[in-house]
Amino acid sequence: MREGARDGGLPTAGGGMSRRQLLATAGVVALSGAVAACSSGGTTSPRRRVLPNDPVVAATERTRLEAGGGTLRSFALTAEPGTIDLGGVMVPTWTYGAAVPGREIRVRQGERLRVDVSNALPDPTSVHWHGLAIRNDMDGVAGLTQQPVVAGKSQRYEFVVPDAGTYWFHPHVGTQLDRGLYAPLIVEDPADGAAYDDEWVLVVDDWIDGTGSPATTPDTVLAGLRRDGMSAMGGMDGTAPASASEPLGSDTGDVVYPYYLINGRLPIAADSRTVRAGQRIRLRLINAGGDTAFRIGIPGVPMTITHTDGFAVEPTSKEAILLGMGERVDAIITVPPSTTPILAIAEGKTGSAQAVLKVAGSSLGDTGGALAKLAASVPFDSARAAAVTAVRLSQKAPDVRHELVLGGPDGQYNWTINGRGYDPARGLPVVQGQRVRLTFTNQTGMFHPMHLHGHTFQVRPTDGGAGPRKDTVLVLPGASVDVDFDADNPGQWLTHCHNIYHGEAGMMTVVSYMST
Ligand code: C2O
Ligand code: CU
Repeated sequence: MREGARDGGLPTAGGGMSRRQLLATAGVVALSGAVAACSSGGTTSPRRRVLPNDPVVAATERTRLEAGGGTLRSFALTAEPGTIDLGGVMVPTWTYGAAVPGREIRVRQGERLRVDVSNALPDPTSVHWHGLAIRNDMDGVAGLTQQPVVAGKSQRYEFVVPDAGTYWFHPHVGTQLDRGLYAPLIVEDPADGAAYDDEWVLVVDDWIDGTGSPATTPDTVLAGLRRDGMSAMGGMDGTAPASASEPLGSDTGDVVYPYYLINGRLPIAADSRTVRAGQRIRLRLINAGGDTAFRIGIPGVPMTITHTDGFAVEPTSKEAILLGMGERVDAIITVPPSTTPILAIAEGKTGSAQAVLKVAGSSLGDTGGALAKLAASVPFDSARAAAVTAVRLSQKAPDVRHELVLGGPDGQYNWTINGRGYDPARGLPVVQGQRVRLTFTNQTGMFHPMHLHGHTFQVRPTDGGAGPRKDTVLVLPGASVDVDFDADNPGQWLTHCHNIYHGEAGMMTVVSYMST
């Protein structure tokens, strides 16, 4: 197994790709052009982009290693085609290790995670560690931070895990995320467990891969969207305004999915956990969907939200949680006296998923009434939570501001940021040490869960309160959301819509560290 991009930065042509393949990779052009004109601050002097193989990236990692202790934890992962049982429905798909979700990786804060990834897929792939602020050359974005891992090859990812919390991983190549290629990555804090007795990781997903005949794949879905523009979905016709009980408005997705899953299971064969009445369970909720937000609730059981995207918030009790693609929420519940479903309604779509809290002496009743009640609830957007004091950013005026105007789609289903599609060579310049404000302004009719790699920003609510730390935030139609972060992790970092089809169709750009 070769060492992949470790320390040496981008692999060269000797790393398993032909020169032709290298030239075919869009990122190579961008990454070899190390000099970019600086467009900010009125200066004309050229500044250098801080690339994944810049010595400052390795130096930043050494600082983390010294802080964390760095016990090495090794895992192996194979991305492979296979047939999966969703609970009576067999689908051909791509998975990590023949399971959906793939097997959870669980480490402790400060440990050094090593994952040897083998690509047994017919296509190139990569692995992105969603939400973790790790070294840039391990971020897994093909064409920006590494070359893709071609079919039949392997790559070692190795990095210090800086923050505790609920994370996950998935490929960053094409539409592969909307296959079965995803798994939880849980980072434990030594202080975990004081407020609860047990925990349960629940990964919700929308599923279309391998269904129908001939079998649909995410690639055929995207090709269909490109062909039809938005006409097939009538996406631009929606007129119903957003309301408290329907916060996304009337355009809630571009793809009609036949199935919705929790932990890879259809409701009819739901994943379950045997628990005791009165036990306190920490739920770690992850939305791995491609085009679906979920509304999650447990009939008669309030959820005490404790974390958003891994970071602690002031505990707040809610009946229903809205979870966009890529977002995570941790919530503690007290197990009720009898068997109860955990319901995840596909927000604004037809269908739902469920898991079951099994309590001895009772079985699951009809969920129809509970689903109707949940559908009529006012779901909580975790962007409205408040970070606990310990994880708040200092009050400080931004040194640099970038607005990202979200636009689209046009007749070819192109989605844009600031009027442009994705170009890895073009970024939003920042300099290490700056306080950066990003403003996401949504000029489209659809919601966008906007994700930033390599940092956990703090949402800045308009009322001046302390917003939560997050790495993925829902930007509702017509809305504008401010987020701040400290530029403390040099490199080239993708920021994009976590709707996989929007991202692939252009709604991605780069937060680009420049040398001083
Ligand atoms: Cu879940 Cu660009 O990532
Ligand atoms: Cu989007």
